[in-house]
Order: sequence, then structure tokens, then C-alpha cells
Amino acid sequence: MAMQWNENLAVGVDAIDNQHKGIFIRVNNLLDAMVLGKGEKYIVEIIEYVGVHFNTEENLMNKYNYISYVKQKTEHMLFIKYFFSIKRELETQGVSSQLLIQTHQLLYNWLKSHIAREDKKFCTFIKKCA
Ligand SMILES: [Fe+2]
Repeated sequence: MAMQWNENLAVGVDAIDNQHKGIFIRVNNLLDAMVLGKGEKYIVEIIEYVGVHFNTEENLMNKYNYISYVKQKTEHMLFIKYFFSIKRELETQGVSSQLLIQTHQLLYNWLKSHIAREDKKFCTFIKKCA
């Protein structure tokens, strides 16, 4: 069951919203591929894309001296860690239904809670400063 980006997740900074949409598209591509027993190519693509996205956000936070930078950075690192553990499992065990379900829950839960909570806060802050 794919989840799409929706207006409830909008943070109001176009560059960030567009990247978030890009993450959802890539997570959905990954999950579709995993259903077919694949996914290694997509996990690599997501790791690269998410890395660029986190750099964009962290550069903005630094630029405006955002107070919760460390909290954000820690959550970003945790998310990257999830991707690497999925990648390792894909390479060593292949796709199992358990991995598929875990990946689905983990990524969507993290995305929804992080974007709706932390990213909205930080974008509200930088919009006031800009
Ligand atoms: Fe984000």
C-alpha cells in the first residue's frame, strides 16, 4: 500500500517540499521493486537522494542558526542508518515478506513523523528569519 506525499506534510518551503515528494516517490519505487524480489538499485538511489536532501536542510539550519540542529542531525543519521541496514539485508538475505513489511512501516512512519514534526518546525523558523 503506497503512501503519497500530501498537503498535510507541506512545510511551506518549496525546495524542501519538492525534495520530500522526491523521497516518497523513491521509497514507493523501492517498495514496488521489493514486491518483485528486487530493490538493491533503488536503495542505493534513495541513499544518495536522501543524503542530498539532508545536506540541503542542514545547510539552511546552519545558515539561520537553528536551535534544534543537533536533534535534526541525529534523526537524519538514524534514517540513513535504517537505509544501510535495509541495504545490507537485501544484499545478504534478499527480500523476505518480513523485510518488506518492516521497510514499509519504518520508512513511512519515520517520514511522516519527522516531516510533520521536526521539518515543519524548522521551516516555520527559517521562514520567519528569511
Ligand atoms: Fe526533510
